[in-house]
Amino acid sequence: MNGSDFSSQFEGRLARPVLAKIPDFARQERLKHVIFAQQFDRDLLDHFSATASMIREISRTRPGQDFLTGLLSHKRAMLYFTQPSTRTFLSFMAACQILGITCNEIRDPSLSSEYKGESPLDSMRMFSSYFDVIIMRTPQAKFAESCAYLMNDLDKMGKRSVPIVNAGSGADEHPTQALLDIYTLQRTFEFTAKTDTSKATRFDQLQRKYPTLSKGLDGKVYGFCGDVGRGRTVRSLTTLLALWKNVSMVFIYPDYPKLAPYADMLARLEDAGIAISHAHSLDQVAAQLDMLYMTRIQHEHDTPEDRAFFETFDKSKFTLTPEILATMRDYCPILHPFPRNEEIPFEIDSDNRAMYFRQARNGMWIRAALLAHIFDVDGKIGSYYLRNYASAPTSSATAVPPR
Ligand code: NCD
Repeated sequence: MNGSDFSSQFEGRLARPVLAKIPDFARQERLKHVIFAQQFDRDLLDHFSATASMIREISRTRPGQDFLTGLLSHKRAMLYFTQPSTRTFLSFMAACQILGITCNEIRDPSLSSEYKGESPLDSMRMFSSYFDVIIMRTPQAKFAESCAYLMNDLDKMGKRSVPIVNAGSGADEHPTQALLDIYTLQRTFEFTAKTDTSKATRFDQLQRKYPTLSKGLDGKVYGFCGDVGRGRTVRSLTTLLALWKNVSMVFIYPDYPKLAPYADMLARLEDAGIAISHAHSLDQVAAQLDMLYMTRIQHEHDTPEDRAFFETFDKSKFTLTPEILATMRDYCPILHPFPRNEEIPFEIDSDNRAMYFRQARNGMWIRAALLAHIFDVDGKIGSYYLRNYASAPTSSATAVPPR
């Protein structure tokens, strides 16, 4: 095996269907490694959201912050991000800091021994000698998964082994982005407002205009616009949304095969009973959506042939203009994993449906909840919360016992 051929060692395991792999990444009731969105079920998602909301609330006070930073102050994390990242990297780092975990990072492999020909798998094993969790983003699909198998093999041999968290692998998967997207939608679809009173709520007001509107993620029409083929965030989020009932999805993308939703994803969604439709212009479908998930065109994956296509490409059809926004439902959240290019002009940011900055902050809370789960301190957070807060937190943490 040479340095870049990491997959040959795990060929058999990598080739299995996703569902057959899931048990390899779990340890009893808990996740051991976080590799695929398929590892999360509804109970776990609700639990993460509840924990995230508790952490958010507890962090508001100094004693609360001190409690949280004491939880994992004996742990160290390696953030191995050899692919560009701003939000995922920083929010994982902030999440570690909230829980007291010390962070170290490698972002440029040319400054590590990989430059001298060290195999990436050797690097990972070295990290496991010094750190307690490896959070990683790499351009290669399946590398995080391979590292999880390496750790499992080490564990079986009685050697030191640490959890692997996939923070984005190739065009493949971005499970923790999907977690924060779901958390954002759960909060948004509570339809609460600071101005709610016992007599008048925002939800009542919305229901007068949209009589079939219900709270929660069931029964909604989810739109995904832009590069829905090469964007890994869409793959991971659609997997999770398929866990809710009566979900419809509308994919809005340029009429060019690489940008279209991939067949394997569509087949999975169809199997899960999702009603799927396709469009090639945002203005034709925007008014019917309950959520709009915008994405940028992932030009870093372009071949010369793709570049020829983009020379004649009409990007205005996949741009959210104020005119299109005016046709959309009053409550329809606009999400974007960021970074954005021109598909959401700055003038949209002041609209209260623009959720992308809140979405990014939610990433910090939900990643802290995920790390708390991995290190088994989420129960302590639940107990602290119940001891110190008489009423339920503002959002998504109602009546969930410590776990
Ligand atoms: C996304 C990613 O890296 O997949 N960014 C992120 O993590 N928030 C989306 C993108 O790069 O377009």
